[in-house]
Amino acid sequence: SESLTFLGIESSCDDTAAAVVRHAPGAPAEILSSVVDGQTALHAAFGGVVPEIAARAHAERLDLCVEQALAESGLRFGDLDGIAVTAGPGLIGGVLSGVMCAKGIAAGTGLPLVGVNHLAGHALTPRLTDGLAFPYLMLLVSGGHCQFLLVRGVEEFTRLGGSIDDAPGEAFDKTAKLLGLPQPGGPVVEVEAKAGNPRRFAFPRPMLDRPGCDMSFSGLKTALLRARDALISAQGGLTRQDRADLCAGFQAAVADVLAEKTRRALALVRDETATPVLAVAGGVAANGAIRAGLQAVCAAAGARFLAPPLRLCTDNAAMIAWAGIERFRAGARDGMALSARPRWPL
Ligand code: KG4
Ligand code: ZN
Repeated sequence: SESLTFLGIESSCDDTAAAVVRHAPGAPAEILSSVVDGQTALHAAFGGVVPEIAARAHAERLDLCVEQALAESGLRFGDLDGIAVTAGPGLIGGVLSGVMCAKGIAAGTGLPLVGVNHLAGHALTPRLTDGLAFPYLMLLVSGGHCQFLLVRGVEEFTRLGGSIDDAPGEAFDKTAKLLGLPQPGGPVVEVEAKAGNPRRFAFPRPMLDRPGCDMSFSGLKTALLRARDALISAQGGLTRQDRADLCAGFQAAVADVLAEKTRRALALVRDETATPVLAVAGGVAANGAIRAGLQAVCAAAGARFLAPPLRLCTDNAAMIAWAGIERFRAGARDGMALSARPRWPL
């Protein structure tokens, strides 16, 4: 079939993003532009994403983001074959802004409109970057999500398990907050952990005693809080080394849990995947210790480890444009009835 060029729009959390992706069957996909306007600074003072602030920022920034993505691609609306937009899950104000923006463009240009599930966007990214064939195992680990998916087709996902409470990124962010470190916590905790002893504090490895691929990270945060408070009441505060050891212990616990559950997920799908692959996505996949743990498990299982470039692992619109192209090829057309969904399990 023919070459397709799609504009993608993403606004489900705290990044306003637009991108243009082109794909001709048989050739690698081309990301002609990918603009991400992050809102970290807007939410920093609040210790988390504030939905009202996020929605307003998306509404203010979407048009410019789209304009910039088009300009950087060197194309105009008339050169496109369709518009893809994140229709959920996410913070409803932001998702609505994106959907309305996409509908406006579709109405004005007559281009087809395709709604995309944000999680499907992450899950299909290894096909955008590496042309990975179905089926494959995906571990999605971000600030809001934590799940193992067997990706069988453009619309065929089997959830093998995931966190029953906090996502790992959320746990990293809360850990940073508890230790007085800045947000987002993940990268800061990783840097602190480099100078720390991961064995000084005996943090739990939750749910390893249970079968299956489900995980829990909220208990780790409680254990960290206890260890911190014990140090504070014993010595009146935390030293630099205490902080580093707490970070190292916490990170090692998260890495161990993710590695062991990945080992089990790979075993579960062994019969379904000819060449076993673990693909990762989400900001937490940037963590060196976590990556090393996953890579070791993959090596032991004879599986390929595939991590897309970080800018495509974290929230972006290229993955939405790509998922839109894949859905369009599968026959999906959404039109003006497309609605924004705050909850939308795969
Ligand atoms: O995928 P992402 O950019 O956004 C969503 O959550 O959708 O992921 C952001 C999360 C944050 O919680 C951040 O602290 C975490 O990923 N993160 C990390 C690292 N870099 C980002 N966590 C651990 N280690 C890192 N190096
Ligand atoms: Zn995401």
